[in-house]
This record gives sequence, C-alpha cells and structure tokens, in this order.
Amino acid sequence: MKEKARAARQEQRIIGLVPTMGAMHAGHMALMEHARRECSTVYASIFLNPKQFAANEDLSRYPRPLKEDVEKLTAAKVDGLFLPSAEEIYPLGFSTYVAVEGLSDKLEGKSRPGHFRGVSTVVMKLFQIVQPHYAYFGRKDAQQVRIVQQMARDLNLDTEIVVCPIVREPDGLAMSSRNTYLNGEERKAATVLHRALQAAESEIGAGVRDSLQLQNAMRKVLQAEPRARVDYAEIVDVETFDPVARVSRPAYALLAVFIGKTRLIDNMLIEPAGDELLVEI
Ligand code: PAF
Repeated sequence: MKEKARAARQEQRIIGLVPTMGAMHAGHMALMEHARRECSTVYASIFLNPKQFAANEDLSRYPRPLKEDVEKLTAAKVDGLFLPSAEEIYPLGFSTYVAVEGLSDKLEGKSRPGHFRGVSTVVMKLFQIVQPHYAYFGRKDAQQVRIVQQMARDLNLDTEIVVCPIVREPDGLAMSSRNTYLNGEERKAATVLHRALQAAESEIGAGVRDSLQLQNAMRKVLQAEPRARVDYAEIVDVETFDPVARVSRPAYALLAVFIGKTRLIDNMLIEPAGDELLVEI
C-alpha cells in the first residue's frame, strides 16, 4: 500500500482515502463518490479495528460481507482497497497510541472507554501508510470527526479532513452497519432517533433556543418508544462537545440510544444564520 501510494504521489495524483470497517452501505458509497469528485486516486480501507471495541462490545458479531463490499467498491470505481490484517496493523509488541485528550473522554468516549484512542491510533496509522491529501468521514460520527480533525491539527498532518452529510433511509434512519442487527420491530422503532431530532428541529423553528427545552422535546419522543433506552440526548458546542445552555453558536443535538441491544447514534447540526438557526439533520 505504501509503495502504491508513494507512486501515485510521484505521478502528481491527488489521493483521497475513505477509511471504513467494511459492511458498506449507501453512507459509505456517498463518501466514495465525494472522494471520486475531488481526487484523481481514491483508496478505501477496510479494517475492523479491534482497538476501538471494548471487551463487551460487538467486534465478534460485526458484519463482514467482504465479497459484497469489493463488488460495491468496484462499481464505485475506487482505485484500490487497503485490506490489512490485524497482525499487520498491530504486530507483536505494538505499543504506541494516539490519544486526543479531553474530547475523547466525553459522550461516546464516556460510554465507550478507550474507543476514541483506538480510532485516533488506527486513523493515524492509515494516514501514515496511505499519505492521503484528503480523507472522508461521515457526519453521523460527529465526535469521531471532531477528534480526527483535532489530531490532524495538533500533529501537523498534511491530510485534510472532509466531512460529508449523513445519509438516511427513506424513513429517516441514519445509515449504519449496525442497523443490520435490528429485527423487524426494532427496525421500525429505530426511526425514533430521527423523529426526536425532528421534534427539536420544530422547536427551533418555533423560536426555542434553550437547550433544556430542546432536550426535553427529544426525550419526550424517545420515551414514547418502549424499545428505546436513552444513553444520552445532549445539545453541545461543535468545537468542545461540552453542553451549551442556549443555542447561540454552532451546536450539535446528539443522540445515543439503545434499541433492544443495539446502540445507535445520530445527530443534527444547528448553525446560527442571522436571527435564524439553520438545522441540518
Ligand atoms: O467510522 C469508522 O468506520 C471507524 O471508526 C474508522 C474511522 C474507519 C476507524 O476505524
């Protein structure tokens, strides 16, 4: 992979990388298309990174439909797939980690200790190997994107982080490889995350700026769904990911909700535009 990427750089190609853990869905394919438009060489990586899963999490049952993934990447005209083994990425004696302090300990980081240390370490390694000019991430994992941006800034990386919009199913459910865990009833119930964000959106449309009121609007919708158990429903600053009392600067409404045993996340971006707030779900 290093040789190929080096050769592509020597040929003055603009390299885009889409890092994934496989189980490609339309959200991943949108990242590939975005990269295709902006770069002359697009690489995807599939690496189910053990270091970002805690012992009690879903590493062993995470979907691995490699054949279908390769077909999708071929159809998307991706130039190359980097498919390393766990031993290649973490050889015996591996002991160096990248930790983005502070940001990694809140929200997702609090519920999933060690998760972001695993993410930042593997993303750093992928960047070192592929040396991409651009790397593409989905906004659904808003905190992950923010952490990768912070790492790129702090460590003077030459890779620009491109954030792409959330891709949703027709009924609003954000695309996620974990959606495959949901049974029929849970799949219906899972739309509650999007409905909760819509409830906050309509409060904002009615002039509400108070975070507690927005949180309550989301929680009311979530609590009406018997299959949903809320991990968090917060309004946070887009830079610090700390809670804000009022929405007067760019903020995220962030949700983490268990539907049965499956933990799903979703978010809405809220941006002031004059006296109005623009929202992007
Ligand atoms: O978002 C993901 O799929 C993973 O966290 C990533 C960025 C590929 C790192 O393993």
